[in-house]
Amino acid sequence: MYNLKIITASTRPGRKGPALADWIFEAAKKHTEFSVELLDLAIINLPFLDEPEHPRFQKYTKEHTKSWSTKIASADAFIFVTPEYNFGYPAPLKNAIDFLHNEWQYKPVAFVSYGGIAGGTRSMQALKQVITALNMVPVVEAVNVPFFTKYIDEQNKFNADEGINKAAEGMFKELLKWTESLQQMRNKK
Ligand SMILES: Cc1cc2nc3c(=O)[nH]c(=O)nc-3n(C[C@H](O)[C@H](O)[C@H](O)COP(=O)(O)O)c2cc1C
Repeated sequence: MYNLKIITASTRPGRKGPALADWIFEAAKKHTEFSVELLDLAIINLPFLDEPEHPRFQKYTKEHTKSWSTKIASADAFIFVTPEYNFGYPAPLKNAIDFLHNEWQYKPVAFVSYGGIAGGTRSMQALKQVITALNMVPVVEAVNVPFFTKYIDEQNKFNADEGINKAAEGMFKELLKWTESLQQMRNKK
């Protein structure tokens, strides 16, 4: 079984991110090849990067870094659930990525993005540039939700339509392929 971590990128009070993260978490659990865990950056609550050494040396001095390192090292695959802030992605996600190095290497990342007319695609594209610097592999098939609020009800539950569910299934299929291949690649090292 592969270890899939779903990372919720937004951290502000009143954020909608958890509605989409909970939805994709439930959808992921139906894929029995994956053991799924939600990592909410608001709960993980990392400070701005406060380690003196480059993370590739893994000379971590802070408990929060060691704990974040353990979580990410145990993952075989990721789904980033991200909004779009000013055509980019939220700063806490960049900070959380920058904290580590080896732990991310040669692992696939799938995306659930959301926003206005662009469905968070600019945020997703901006993330691809950063994750490839860590030898992570972006999964092309993604869930991009435009005008996402129309899918969120009064209970803050995200109710996907047929098209969104289909996109999610396509994403899981590709994510699994990359997860298998990249695990083999990591094992060869
Ligand atoms: C600082 C800020 C910048 C935003 N910029 C964009 C943007 O560039 N594109 C977009 O589609 N929505 C933008 N929005 C609207 C967000 O899509 C919307 O607020 C969404 O709920 C943010 O996700 P969150 O609730 O998980 O924080 C922005 C919102 C904030 C707070």
